[in-house]
Amino acid sequence: MKILVVYHSIYGHVQTLAKAVSEGVQEVPGAELVLRRVHEFPEFVQHVEQEKGFSYQVYQGQQSIPECTVNDLREADGVLFGSPTRYGNMTAQMKALIDSTVELWLKGEMEGKPAGVFTSTASTHGGQETTLLTMMVPLLHLGMVIVGVPYSTPGMIHTEARGGTPYGASTIAGAKGELQPTPGDLAIAKVQGKRVAEAALALRSKR
Ligand SMILES: Cc1cc2nc3c(=O)[nH]c(=O)nc-3n(C[C@H](O)[C@H](O)[C@H](O)COP(=O)(O)O)c2cc1C
Repeated sequence: MKILVVYHSIYGHVQTLAKAVSEGVQEVPGAELVLRRVHEFPEFVQHVEQEKGFSYQVYQGQQSIPECTVNDLREADGVLFGSPTRYGNMTAQMKALIDSTVELWLKGEMEGKPAGVFTSTASTHGGQETTLLTMMVPLLHLGMVIVGVPYSTPGMIHTEARGGTPYGASTIAGAKGELQPTPGDLAIAKVQGKRVAEAALALRSKR
């Protein structure tokens, strides 16, 4: 049973969440983790290569992770999608991957597969919930079964400025990306990865 974790990350925060999500997936016996990054726009690659700043280091550090293909989505029994927030939505790079699934949609190939979403924002109220909820919309069109994070999960009821929502795992990166996911953010991300893998196991026989 394959569980795909596919993410986009420019400054590394969503990548760190993706690693925690992956750890959760790997806790489920029988789950094979498939970790992929989203195809980066060539204009952006050119930009970071010229600037040689921090985002270039992050980009370079992800080269060993294969880019996600439509076939990776087809072969997956469950998928976790991670994207940074862009004006309260997922990134165009992640949306481009989802928009490339028309042949899967036509044949209903994603129907009945569980999906989870996770994100990062610069600020506390920068749109984690809107990003997570809007990421779910195309997944529902594809017939996927959305898996969130229940409030019985330790650390879910919190009032300090950090991530962790019932819609999916999240983190606050800071205006300059100076923050890192907290241990609580990572624990919730791990729970979400595990839940999607467990749901995939339960749903696989019904597809
Ligand atoms: C074009 C653009 C739009 C953004 N929009 C938002 C936003 O709506 N809310 C917010 O809190 N952060 C916003 N950010 C900040 C990113 O969400 C932040 O850099 C990201 O969460 C860091 O994740 P990463 O380290 O995985 O790239 C925006 C950044 C860019 C470049």
